[in-house]
Amino acid sequence: MSAFPSVLEGIKDLELGHIKALLRRTSDLKSGQPPRLPLQKSLAVATSFLENSTRTKLSFAMAIKRLGGFHIDFHAESSSLKKGESLEQTLLTLKYQGIDICIIRTNESNLLDQFRNYPPIKIINGGDGINQHPTQALLDLYTLQDHFGGLKKLKGKTVAIVGDCIHSRVTHSLTDLLPQFGIKVLLCGPDFFIPKELPRDVSRVDNLDEAIEQSDAIYLLRVQTERHDKSITDQLKNYQEEWGLTFERFRKQSKVLPVFHPGPANIGIEVESEIVNSEIWMAHKQVQNSVFVRMAIIEAMINNEDHNIGSQYKKIPGDISERLRHS
Ligand code: NCD
Repeated sequence: MSAFPSVLEGIKDLELGHIKALLRRTSDLKSGQPPRLPLQKSLAVATSFLENSTRTKLSFAMAIKRLGGFHIDFHAESSSLKKGESLEQTLLTLKYQGIDICIIRTNESNLLDQFRNYPPIKIINGGDGINQHPTQALLDLYTLQDHFGGLKKLKGKTVAIVGDCIHSRVTHSLTDLLPQFGIKVLLCGPDFFIPKELPRDVSRVDNLDEAIEQSDAIYLLRVQTERHDKSITDQLKNYQEEWGLTFERFRKQSKVLPVFHPGPANIGIEVESEIVNSEIWMAHKQVQNSVFVRMAIIEAMINNEDHNIGSQYKKIPGDISERLRHS
């Protein structure tokens, strides 16, 4: 297995071995084992949430604190980014100030691609546009295995992701992740919310009743209105009736399933309050596990012994370098 990546942009940055190790380490940390961090200095993390967040931001903050580190919240709005500085230079500044990892959330998909080969600092994606949200998918996988009694038990299970799949970075990370563990993923929602081309091991069902019938777990999504154009918003009037999850739906299929949600949930739209207030609602467990999964991710990244972070910026062309030395 290669070293843990220094830029975690998406699920595809991780090998299967990394993912399994993260899940194991999450359980260790959850059971109270002490963190394994370099001794020489305390962990320093910058969180830069260029888009709204409650759960992800606070869960990272808790994870850092539980690891014995501290975090600095970096406000893009009041930073030199507003004076025209590039994100790269800003991140390099953080590195030289002694920050180990920067956690970035942005509404720009693939923003972090540019840093993949030459990272100015270690980076964890806290969600970028509609592209990826790897830490959410990993904590979902952890919660699923917890619920079904282990990783091996996930093989052959079916999870239906219901709602605004096309605008959901969580869905894009889940469809990259879950099939690696033998989970079949079904996407379900109005036509304009389902991608035309589906990834491998992912298929589509036409309505919620069918999704319930064929699945072992339901994963609900928020209707992400901030990412829609008006033509879609106009077609959402009957969303709750057609796609909202209720106990009545389960009764119709004579089965009840665990219901996952990344939050924030719009109660009364994609899900009724009776479900949110019942024991089938897994979202609180997801939130609870999120702290330990993120601790494991930070710990793995900090320990990857990548000494090349930011070093490429020191290189200057050979002939100039000679002249500098002799001047
Ligand atoms: C999601 C996100 O921001 O991508 N939530 C989260 O991180 N817990 C989903 C959403 O915004 O609906």
